[in-house]
Amino acid sequence: MTELSAAHEAAVTDRDRLAGSAYNTDRDLAARQSLYQWQTPRYDLPGIVAEQLSGFHGRVVDIGCGNGKFLQRLREDRPDLALFGMDIAPGILAGVPGPVAVADATRLPLATASVDAALALHMLYHVPDIPQAVRELARVVVSDGLVITSTNSDRDKTELDDLWQQAAGDVLGTGRGPDRISLSARFTLEKAPAFLGEEFGRVETIELPGTITVHNPDPVIAHMASYRAWADQHDVPFEATIERARRILVDHIAQLGAFEVTCLGGILICRR
Ligand SMILES: C[S@@+](CC[C@H](N)C(=O)[O-])C[C@H]1O[C@@H](n2cnc3c(N)ncnc32)[C@H](O)[C@@H]1O
Repeated sequence: MTELSAAHEAAVTDRDRLAGSAYNTDRDLAARQSLYQWQTPRYDLPGIVAEQLSGFHGRVVDIGCGNGKFLQRLREDRPDLALFGMDIAPGILAGVPGPVAVADATRLPLATASVDAALALHMLYHVPDIPQAVRELARVVVSDGLVITSTNSDRDKTELDDLWQQAAGDVLGTGRGPDRISLSARFTLEKAPAFLGEEFGRVETIELPGTITVHNPDPVIAHMASYRAWADQHDVPFEATIERARRILVDHIAQLGAFEVTCLGGILICRR
């Protein structure tokens, strides 16, 4: 995974873009989440989070809760917890049963030491000031509380980066085309411990490696198309590149029977 340019960094963290198009509904997030149904092994991420919370009671906040996938499961598994969600995008919260609130991870409307655990799952890479968000997580959690974050490795889904570059190069007639924008590059599994270690004495990484295997291009194309909020950041016509990627995938699957994507995500468990 290459480092982001300043323009890409600004685009990945821009509040208007996040709240207004990337996460104004859960359409694109759901497309990215659903690709994992073709992963081997399959990880029950909400189940892993629930397991980590097993010794904890009281108030738990899910910051950047998105479409509420984790809140929903935790409400089922842990009805004893007082669970609430926060997100910067009012649109995506509209479909999430409350209590939820619009809030920014860098300025949490929560009192110091007021929650027993906080989740910040696949979201810190969207925050302009990551150290400030980590300070806020540490501030709102009680001293013996738990913070759980998650993200992807810089080695995650490199086959999709290659596919994008090949398709973009074909569209532009340039051989290999420009990189696809990376959402998680600012807070990867490799970078996360240093950010989190500024506030938390113990940071444990649980790596979740796997392989996605598809026999039909649709789920991969839906995942690629889910970057449409950043279409203008790609220096190549977005829709045409997606259509070219579909043709490449159709040919690949016809020849080899399947298309494989190597995944490496992970969860970071943080304590003081
Ligand atoms: C990739 S989604 C992850 C959603 C959910 N946590 C999950 O893992 O399925 C990122 C979410 O973080 C939210 N977000 C981005 N920046 C934020 C910020 N500064 N404060 C709170 N939420 C933010 C987005 O609106 C989006 O819903």
